[in-house]
Amino acid sequence: MSEETIITETRGKVGIITLNRPKALNALNGRLITEMNAALDRFDGDPGIAVIILAGSDKAFAAGADIREMKDKTFADVTEEDFLRDWDHITTIRKPIIAAVAGYALGGGFEFALACDTIIAAGNAKFALPEVTLGIIPGGGGTQRLVQAVGKAKAMEMILTGRMMDVEEAERLGVVARVVPPEKLMDEAMAVAEKIAALSQPVIASAKRAVNAAFNLPLGEGLAFERKSIHALFALADQKEGMAAFVEKRKPVFRDR
Ligand code: CAA
Repeated sequence: MSEETIITETRGKVGIITLNRPKALNALNGRLITEMNAALDRFDGDPGIAVIILAGSDKAFAAGADIREMKDKTFADVTEEDFLRDWDHITTIRKPIIAAVAGYALGGGFEFALACDTIIAAGNAKFALPEVTLGIIPGGGGTQRLVQAVGKAKAMEMILTGRMMDVEEAERLGVVARVVPPEKLMDEAMAVAEKIAALSQPVIASAKRAVNAAFNLPLGEGLAFERKSIHALFALADQKEGMAAFVEKRKPVFRDR
């Protein structure tokens, strides 16, 4: 299925959303955000889909918010429309989202990658939050998520200067989970997605919720949430199956129940 600003496809239990504004290096305009959010919701609600991959082109994951679209907005415009509110929608998606990043992931592009559950990057990936060079600050979560990802000193240096980070630095800092040759990016992202998709989906959803609690809750509350979550999983047939299969030295057959 093809829309104007994104392309969606499914491969087995994996839903792929490819950003598709090649002439503008996938700059994120209002229409793209609306279409991407709708596609995320469709995959999230589709019982045949277990994992979502968000990808761009070989040259750009996304070069940030669309500067042409936002340049003439006034303070009244952005407050009235609550500009960027719909950029948070991705955090409501229950299924795992893998960002497959090649080329530029700048500004909002980097922020969306950080909002995904993990990032697999091609060797040509470049990351930056260059908003200060445009007279704004990161507004799609960058000031919060980059600090959580790399700590204050590095995040501050990147955000205050707007400088570019190459993929080696990104991997060293743990911003990306792994780096692969550009031509292997989608294969590697698919391999990770298929590994997750083969597991028990209620368990995967619980793991995603628990990890995200680490970002949203104080440690004590996060640990209590984790404990309640693992207790609840003992109600699943898949917990019985997973452990029985281990003891019986066979492969588990999960039924998502
Ligand atoms: N918005 C709108 N158009 C963009 C764009 C953006 N963020 N980034 C690139 N484009 C467009 C260019 O205007 C150009 O269009 P034309 O051919 O019609 O002129 C086309 O994409 C190709 O770009 P370049 O010619 O600039 O390509 P390049 O290879 O020379 O440079 C680049 C690539 C370094 C990524 C450069 O395009 C660039 O610096 N882009 C802007 C990056 C940026 O500042 N992003 C932050 C946006 S603000 C933000 O994201 C706010 C937020 O937090 C929510």
